[in-house]
Amino acid sequence: MRLSTRRLVLTEEDRLAEVTLEDVERAGGWPGIFSSSAPLSVEIGLGKDTHILEQAAAHPDRLYVGFEYARKKLDKILKKIGYHGSLPNLRVVYADVTRVFAVLFPEASLSHVYVFFPDPWPKKRHHGRRTLNSTFVSEIASRLAPGAPLEVRTDNAEYVEQIIEVLDGEPTLENAVAPQAYLPDPIPLDAGDPESHIPTLFESKFRERGLPIHYFYYRKQT
Ligand SMILES: C[S@@+](CC[C@H](N)C(=O)[O-])C[C@H]1O[C@@H](n2cnc3c(N)ncnc32)[C@H](O)[C@@H]1O
Repeated sequence: MRLSTRRLVLTEEDRLAEVTLEDVERAGGWPGIFSSSAPLSVEIGLGKDTHILEQAAAHPDRLYVGFEYARKKLDKILKKIGYHGSLPNLRVVYADVTRVFAVLFPEASLSHVYVFFPDPWPKKRHHGRRTLNSTFVSEIASRLAPGAPLEVRTDNAEYVEQIIEVLDGEPTLENAVAPQAYLPDPIPLDAGDPESHIPTLFESKFRERGLPIHYFYYRKQT
């Protein structure tokens, strides 16, 4: 679904899926926000992609929280959630995830974390802005429940080096596809259902151009 930013008008209903840090604090945490203690998954850096909507629609028995720090992109996501009608198991947060993640989620509380096509910041002087650095990966790992997956996808060959370094360097994570560092093709989410992989917008664009994609499958140690 493509939406023009200029004509984008969010209704009160569209905005219902957005929560702030204060909302979560007031509710006493995510179970208060969702009125549910179902397994909670997080996607980092939504862009305009609908992966998290599709996950939430396919798994009404699970909870999903997405982060995006570009306001216009988040508004597009809110509009798409609004068009969808009812996704009571999905919320989005407008924030730099690296600043709020550890505050928002208790240790060992997440059942899945997705990081798809994080901005590669190709210039060397910008590498410090990359989301997947050792400090943030350590925070992600501490919030994952034992055995819970951390999935990362990237096209960027240079970022791949850093991703391998920080994921392998986090002692509480293990590589689920070892001895391979990553896979060139995705593993279907639901075993036996080859259609269950949900490609993101960036993924589809790169695939159309025939560019290689790197799929990382890690999990928190049990
Ligand atoms: C390259 S896009 C990928 C979007 C989508 N995941 C996909 O695969 O199509 C990366 C997105 O992450 C967002 N982002 C990057 N760093 C972020 C951060 N620290 N907190 C929240 N969002 C972030 C960017 O604004 C951008 O929309």
